[in-house]
Amino acid sequence: MRVGVFDSGVGGLSVLESLLKARLFEHIIYYGDTARVPYGPKDPATIAKFSLEALDFFKPHHIDMLVVACNSVSAWALPAMRAKTQIPIVGVIEAGVLAITQSTPKDTPILVLGTKATIRSGRYARELKEQGYDFVDSLATGLFVPLIEEGVLEGALLEACMQHYFAPLKSAPSVLVLGCTHFPWIATPLQNYFTNHFNTPVRLVHSGEAIVARLKIAYGLSTKPDNSTLLELHASGDKVLLEHLAKPLHALI
Ligand code: DGL
Repeated sequence: MRVGVFDSGVGGLSVLESLLKARLFEHIIYYGDTARVPYGPKDPATIAKFSLEALDFFKPHHIDMLVVACNSVSAWALPAMRAKTQIPIVGVIEAGVLAITQSTPKDTPILVLGTKATIRSGRYARELKEQGYDFVDSLATGLFVPLIEEGVLEGALLEACMQHYFAPLKSAPSVLVLGCTHFPWIATPLQNYFTNHFNTPVRLVHSGEAIVARLKIAYGLSTKPDNSTLLELHASGDKVLLEHLAKPLHALI
């Protein structure tokens, strides 16, 4: 089976890693719209337009399924994309919500981090509320995305950015939802920040962890017997960081 994986940039690699580990697909074609990242500050119509253009990119690749490894696109563009193609399109927000509900008691204080687009959509907060979670806060922390796309994954600049977003928080969450696929790249600094500033450990949840479970449950996919996967990496712009960060993933092929 041939699957496309789409993100605005390098964020979807966190989802790609889970897909490679699970060995669900023979052939994976990754596409990052690195020429136009970040999507998070853009309006829904622009996000939908770019996402439809990504569908055009995949057309000649004849994929059987598309995994949208981007929360901002999953929040705003899935209906428009599904209207344009017959192939199944799987978003990450359902997977992220599944990851939380599978592992988290309902009275847990949860903080959802995401881009402006994702947080503005209210998808995580709404879906968690519907499932009985009453202590959910959301925070748009989109500045992390350009930092990560610059390869800034630690250090003073990232610390200042975390300070900017998190210093006003009155109390610590027990669970931090990484509602942007870029954020697993800074999972350790995020974990350290919360542990050091609130003196209590925080558990991080991200959709890459649950996407495999969702693909198995909702689409009946299973692990294939051999462990060779064909992986292609494509980008609309610069591919240097994408290829650099994807290097360790080749060990999973
Ligand atoms: N990685 C994406 C997400 O999950 C997009 C980040 C961006 O382009 O702003 O939302």
